[in-house]
Amino acid sequence: MAKSTSKTSATLRLDKAISQVTDLSRAEVKRAARQERITVNGKTVTNPASKVDVADELCLDGEPLGAAGPRYFMLNKPLGYVCATKDGEHPIVLDLLDEPNLQKLHIAGRLDIDTTGLVLITDDGQWSHRIASPRHQCAKTYYAHLAEPIADDAVDKCAKGIWLNNEKTRTKPAKLEILYRNEVRITITEGRYHQVKRMFAALGNRVLELHRESIGEIALDEMLTEGEYRPLTPEEVASIG
Ligand code: URA
Repeated sequence: MAKSTSKTSATLRLDKAISQVTDLSRAEVKRAARQERITVNGKTVTNPASKVDVADELCLDGEPLGAAGPRYFMLNKPLGYVCATKDGEHPIVLDLLDEPNLQKLHIAGRLDIDTTGLVLITDDGQWSHRIASPRHQCAKTYYAHLAEPIADDAVDKCAKGIWLNNEKTRTKPAKLEILYRNEVRITITEGRYHQVKRMFAALGNRVLELHRESIGEIALDEMLTEGEYRPLTPEEVASIG
């Protein structure tokens, strides 16, 4: 699998880069560098303060650590996987990634266990905040297969915002596109708990299948079969503004 690359040619200190992708503290990385245990693009680097590019390939004790910069992936989530970092009962989406230091990664915008489709995974907290925070209004688009034919007034109701059970405010305007009698595409800009399912419940309907197609301008890559993933392109990373 190709390695993840980041935005432009950003640089960071070697000790910071290594501590970000391993369990080592900055002090331990400094020691490892002095002991000639670190290579950058195949060359031994002993100065922990030296700058590395986010796309540089780092190795510790001969073990590849991947690129120096933050990592960004898209995954086509299958049914039955949980968007959590641990779960005693079910497999978790991170089990599907063959990457070093999985414990450093988190999910930017979770899906329910029975929802499929686009999941973004990163170790860049500021980037994932821009996806999740309501202030940034990042659009998320879902295909939904409903139990009943969609009501005629549903498009207007979604556009006006819907009162969900036990909530103090209406949902933000959502765009509903009717694809067929009981098949719709819905775009929301929030991430309330089980939001899409609760919106259709409030409309007197029920979601049978839910699949996330896109987040902002990042669309699920059609080449990815369920359970597959790939690094985001620099353009996809930069599109989350
Ligand atoms: N809304 C839901 O109800 N479930 C999801 O998984 C995502 C959005």
